[in-house]
Amino acid sequence: MTRLLVTGGCGFIGSNFIHHILRTRRDWSLVNVDKLSYAGNLENLAEIQNDPRYWFVRADIADREQMTALASEGIDVIVNFAAETHVDRSILDPAFFIRNNVLGTESLLWAAKENRVARFVQISTDEVYGSLGPTGKFTEDSPLRPNNPYAASKAAADLLCRAFQHTYGLAVIITRCSNNYGPYQFPEKVIPVCISNALADRPLPLYGDGLNVRDWIYVEDHCRAIEAVIERGQPGEVYNIGSNQEMTNLELMRTILRVLGKPESLIQFVKDRPGHDRRYAMDSTRIQRELGWRPRVGFEEGIRRTVEWYQTHQDWLARVKSGAYREYYRQHYIERHGLKE
Ligand code: NAD
Ligand code: TYD
Repeated sequence: MTRLLVTGGCGFIGSNFIHHILRTRRDWSLVNVDKLSYAGNLENLAEIQNDPRYWFVRADIADREQMTALASEGIDVIVNFAAETHVDRSILDPAFFIRNNVLGTESLLWAAKENRVARFVQISTDEVYGSLGPTGKFTEDSPLRPNNPYAASKAAADLLCRAFQHTYGLAVIITRCSNNYGPYQFPEKVIPVCISNALADRPLPLYGDGLNVRDWIYVEDHCRAIEAVIERGQPGEVYNIGSNQEMTNLELMRTILRVLGKPESLIQFVKDRPGHDRRYAMDSTRIQRELGWRPRVGFEEGIRRTVEWYQTHQDWLARVKSGAYREYYRQHYIERHGLKE
């Protein structure tokens, strides 16, 4: 039995990863450590809460003592998803990002080192590389040039991972993935915001000129890549993950509206994000060549599945959009970006 300690498992990618592993790996068990921030939702894992191979612990990864105690319980692999993840929130207040993403990762690395955990997988992002011009892609050798506080905090965590590998010989692997989409994504990121607003015939907020480019990957493909890295990744390596599905935000919103059968007039150009990165694109040759991973879900298929998931989970959506979310939405979109109500 391989025993994983997964952090941030109640968030978007973490919960998809836990579902994926419990479905595909009969001989793996998981401890999920999550502090349940606004983005953490136990409901994402309701279906598997009684699975004997799954255990939930509500805790903060920045609590070094608790992490060291948990890692001492026969853990083979730590997979660190836990983080503050939204760029717009990081612009409002970077402090949470430093605490959770930088200090939190250090605390977890320390716990792994103290317990001689065999493998530590850090879930990082393409945003650590900064922004691209109209051509080219990020490779694992691209310099780290983060442009916003979220990206800077993730880059800092990546550098701590490197230092723990080099100094203490901890077997750390870093994965850097492009923008994910799929079920259970919190409606602050662009795809669920657009699906949720379009379902309610409300305007879709498009930042700036709408021509910023993101490289989209279906979350299930990312989960399969992490699984391959856990099994076959080389300690000390970085693996870029992406599925060559670049598009402008304008094209993205048009596609969502087409799939939902809603008019393009719902798109509203709003004030741009400060320091908005123009383009991300990933070269994932290394993971494809060395670990034999390939993306399987094309964008048309992935977005159709995602839209369908939100259509059939409108109760989930209504619950996550209640409470503090309403205040965030009003301040962020209506007051700061000038979106119509
Ligand atoms: P998310 O915001 O949906 O979930 C983050 C989870 O981490 C939440 O459940 C939250 O409660 C938990 N958490 C935050 N701080 C914590 C702490 N100090 N201790 C314990 N738990 C804590 O995020 P996501 O989109 O699922 O992203 C997961 C990881 O993948 C992040 O590290 C992110 O940087 C990385 N990533 C995300 C994307 C993307 O497109 N979403 C792309 C590349 C990489
Ligand atoms: P986002 O989902 O926040 O991911 P990231 O900033 O990590 O790439 O944003 C994706 C793109 O969509 C980005 O270029 C900003 C843009 N965007 C909008 O146009 N409107 C929105 O409401 C949001 C949240 C993002």
